[in-house]
Amino acid sequence: MVVHHNLHRNVRILLVGDRGVGKTSLILSLVSEEFPEDVPPKSEEITIPADVTPELVPTNIVDYSAVEQSDIQLAEEVQRANVICVVYSMDDDDTMDRVTSYWLPFLRETLSHTHRCPVVLVGNKLDLVDYSTVDAAMEIMNEYKEVESFVECSAKTLNNISEMFYYAQKAVLHPTGPLYITDQQD
Ligand code: GTP
Ligand code: MG
Repeated sequence: MVVHHNLHRNVRILLVGDRGVGKTSLILSLVSEEFPEDVPPKSEEITIPADVTPELVPTNIVDYSAVEQSDIQLAEEVQRANVICVVYSMDDDDTMDRVTSYWLPFLRETLSHTHRCPVVLVGNKLDLVDYSTVDAAMEIMNEYKEVESFVECSAKTLNNISEMFYYAQKAVLHPTGPLYITDQQD
């Protein structure tokens, strides 16, 4: 029998991804349960108390902004994170291409001498498209085993937002094989 000891007293979730994919909107939508029309470049660090998280573990959510942070500051945040959400915009192929041409290689390079860090692949702006990006996402997951799960969501309609953060927590607390959700909830 395999027993997973829970060694994590909190979970630190970092969101990265190209400009404009909706990182800040995702965080603010989760916290306020409504879509913020005007978002700052970078959200304050959010602390969610244990008793309101699905896994009952205190959770910090950390935003990244290329206009406010240097590459060195980004690398420091990458090394502090327990799980990293790599966000792309479902209506912009370039942002998905950058997941494999830039973000995942950058994370590997930055983490190689420290620790393994699970990744959740997040396709945002589901509300803007009438297709799924699951096929391309599966190819990414096959190539990059650190990608633990995949979710398509919308900060605007709040579709799958709590699921996204739940999957991030789960990737830290119960790392397992790959898993994905694409179904829309209403
Ligand atoms: P940077 O801070 O520049 O890196 O961008 P970001 O990734 O934080 O994106 P941000 O949250 O600022 O959102 C960029 C734009 O996309 C804004 O105009 C948002 O209103 C819009 N946006 C974010 N999420 C969604 C979404 O789910 N659906 C739609 N339709 N628009 C969204
Ligand atoms: Mg932002």
